[in-house]
Amino acid sequence: MGASALLLFGATGDLARRMLLPSLYALYDDGLLPKDLRIVGTARSALDDRGYRDMAEDALSEFLPGHDRDGASIPAFLEHLYYHPMDILAGDDGFSRLSEKLEDTSDGLSIFLSTAPSLFEPTIRGLQAAGLAHDGVRIGLEKPLGTDLQSSCEINDAVASAFPEDRIFRIDHYLGKETVQNLLALRFANVLFEPLWNEEHIDHVQITVAETVGLEGRVDYYDGVGALRDMVQNHVLQLLALVAMEPPSSFDATAVRDEKVKVLRSLRPITCDDSVLGQYEGYDAELKRDSATETFVALKANVDNWRWAGVPFYLRTGKKLAERRTEIVVQFKPIPHNIFASRGANSVPNRLIIAIQPQENIHLSVMAKVPGLDRGGIKLREVPLDISMPDAFAGPRRRIAYERLLLDLIEGDQTLFVRRDEVEAQWQWIDAVRACWTETAKTPEVYQEGSLGPEVADALVKRDGRVWHD
Ligand code: BG6
Repeated sequence: MGASALLLFGATGDLARRMLLPSLYALYDDGLLPKDLRIVGTARSALDDRGYRDMAEDALSEFLPGHDRDGASIPAFLEHLYYHPMDILAGDDGFSRLSEKLEDTSDGLSIFLSTAPSLFEPTIRGLQAAGLAHDGVRIGLEKPLGTDLQSSCEINDAVASAFPEDRIFRIDHYLGKETVQNLLALRFANVLFEPLWNEEHIDHVQITVAETVGLEGRVDYYDGVGALRDMVQNHVLQLLALVAMEPPSSFDATAVRDEKVKVLRSLRPITCDDSVLGQYEGYDAELKRDSATETFVALKANVDNWRWAGVPFYLRTGKKLAERRTEIVVQFKPIPHNIFASRGANSVPNRLIIAIQPQENIHLSVMAKVPGLDRGGIKLREVPLDISMPDAFAGPRRRIAYERLLLDLIEGDQTLFVRRDEVEAQWQWIDAVRACWTETAKTPEVYQEGSLGPEVADALVKRDGRVWHD
């Protein structure tokens, strides 16, 4: 059942302006939203419907990717927007007035909740008291869902007291990215990779999520959270789970999530030497006080199961690095025997690079013979087999991750949302990493803006005889 109303908490915030409103407009423009969908925004700002529509119009002119839409249907889209100012903690009749604003929700209501962790509980209570948690209501939860396992469990318990798991949609926007979903197609819609996708043939895996941006005014949220909890706990571990999981029996919510959670639960608690923390130079000045929050983290993870025994997963992410790059590198093992050795030629092990952003492509390096008569010996060289996704699929429009996720929420498909057991397995592993840091009083190493992170991150892979793919 598709919802007839959508309720956006945090409706005037950065996420709403940059991502949610442009995504909703794009879906509307393509005729993908229910025809009479009523979109009600709520936040503390004292706006009325008109004021909110003006704000939304400004947000669209600023953040809508301009090149592929003419915006002609924006005025009609804005007519679907309504606004209800509310202070969640006020304890007044705000929620029941919100319910009136939503009008009849018996045909279905989808809620998008992005709020500070401390507001989850009062919000859920308010929704329940106002009759906005009935069987036709689904709730999408945006991070941060807690700061550790315990606080995450508290949030999950609070939400579970009003909504069953099959109506809870925990968002990890990386799962909405086209190339991330394509990882599943690459693995499970081809016969080529799966037979090699194991410890017998793979030497190690690298997952890099490098950003050039700093904190862009989010320092209050970020400080005390850091790269481990902001990025690894969710996005990076979800990427790892997709790379490492067993083939699900079908592409549906239960099958996919069952396999992911098995991987997350198989993560070996890391030892203190297996992580490196960094902080970009100038962070303290930006914050105007000293802080030990990491803006970079590199980790060596292991998945303790038959498929991945002895195959390290090197993970790293950081802010203010040299380039924006999200990629997964699968480094294969050397060939078992080099028949060209007697002719002086070396073979370099194959490598598969799945570039997620900003470039979307798949790059497989294979060995080939350098043309020639080979009188001085055979020469072999790595050549790339490159698939550029934008070139291969020039027609279909590139979607913002939230377009897909909002539509799935409205239509009730949970496949690309994170289940409670996954989130908790993620936190369990992350809490153990943090416990190590506390135990050894580990503090971040300073790195320069525009660098590849602290040099010690290199040592993490070098000591295993490997290098980062840069
Ligand atoms: C968010 C983090 O979840 O993901 C941000 O809170 C980060 O710190 C962002 O910048 C990265 O998302 P993307 O889609 O730009 O890679």
